[in-house]
Amino acid sequence: MGLDDAIRTALDRLSGDKDRLQVGLADVFGRVADSSALKTFALMRRHRPIVSAGSTTIVTRNEDVKEVLGDPARFTVDLYGPKMVAITGPFILGVDDTPLYRHDHAAMDRAVLREDLPMIGDRMYELARALVAERRDDDGEIDVVSQLADPAVDRTIGEYFGTPGPDRATHLRWARNVFQELFINVGNLAPVRERALADAARWRPHLDRQIAVRKAQLKAGEDVPDDVLTRLLRLQSEDEPNFHDIAIRHNILGNITGWIPTISNAFARVVEELLGRDDELERAQQAARAGDRELVGRYAFEASRFRPQNFALLRYVPQDTTIAAGSDRETTVKAGSTVFAATLSAMHDERAIEAPGEFRVDRPWSDYMLFGHGLHTCYGEHIVRAQLPALATALLEGPRLQRAQGDPGKLRFAGPYPSGLTVRFGA
Ligand code: HEM
Repeated sequence: MGLDDAIRTALDRLSGDKDRLQVGLADVFGRVADSSALKTFALMRRHRPIVSAGSTTIVTRNEDVKEVLGDPARFTVDLYGPKMVAITGPFILGVDDTPLYRHDHAAMDRAVLREDLPMIGDRMYELARALVAERRDDDGEIDVVSQLADPAVDRTIGEYFGTPGPDRATHLRWARNVFQELFINVGNLAPVRERALADAARWRPHLDRQIAVRKAQLKAGEDVPDDVLTRLLRLQSEDEPNFHDIAIRHNILGNITGWIPTISNAFARVVEELLGRDDELERAQQAARAGDRELVGRYAFEASRFRPQNFALLRYVPQDTTIAAGSDRETTVKAGSTVFAATLSAMHDERAIEAPGEFRVDRPWSDYMLFGHGLHTCYGEHIVRAQLPALATALLEGPRLQRAQGDPGKLRFAGPYPSGLTVRFGA
């Protein structure tokens, strides 16, 4: 039996149990994402590009992934919405094209400014460089998750948003647990949900206090930092009275949840991918040594195309609809179904991407679907395009990198997240 038949059979067998099927799918693809997902998707694209069984459908071709992500009326984010409300309140990734979505997105855009990006990248580079130097001088090794990405990202968020966590470990845990419940817990496993709700119940009052303190400082005319929190609160007294304190909290909590777990995850996978590619690693290191952060970024995002932070995005189907209508793969999906739009597969679809199996650093940005597609394209995309290259440059600009000896030199996981990958600086 071919691999696609095996998938089909597994889907058929599990199709009566929506929760088990979804957990199974997420689990299977999560585990194999680093090894055989590319091969599996290649087979699916060729032989069975849309697999539908019971209430779950997977689309694998670039065109179909774009159809799903590009039509928020037929394919909604209703799977995330209620979970977000339980965590804090409505947030843009939990509502589709509505006045609330447009209002909150636009309000955030007045505080998270494009002109901040060079500063965000430079600050990340400065922090990451100091962390790398310290570890290199100490024992010649660094764990790229716990000793580099996590502390640098956490610090930049605290400074830029103006809402640091009570301490780093707690802040990282809150964001990771909440992210897992919102985006990974497709089967709604109770322990995952309860852990996230408990952490959110601590996080909300923490943010409420920070908002109240800053508001009082502004009212008293004190000197305050020009960070996102200050800017959002200033909007209230200007022309955004509806962006009340609780809405500010939803948006800050939502964005930090999108920020902490993703960059270290993506970065660990980028390093893992480069460590497996001698020539590309060498060239990326040369670019870093030459201070060419833009080129280092191209290596990082191309590495991510092979080993992305997530392989698919989920959508809910509110009414019966047809995907790829008029084609020989046309598939009708029933109301109440879940669709996995396999972005990893779309980025390797030879029908849309030139030489998808080759590692190229001159691809157009439109080849990448690392940040989704359509209405819900990542809000932090530009921040990541400033921070990830900076982080990578700080790591790569020194001597030749290699894996640390033994298990620490392997990419390790704690639940769904990379927990460590230790690299050694050569002579
Ligand atoms: C490497 C890091 C990151 C990756 C790979 C990533 C990936 C994504 C993806 C794939 C989506 C689309 C989700 C969907 O359509 O279901 C998304 C949405 C989103 N991301 Fe990111 N993200 C990253 C970092 C960030 C950062 C740093 C922030 C905040 C500063 C952020 C905030 C958001 C928000 C708010 C949305 C929802 C946007 C909307 O609904 O319009 N993300 N992200």
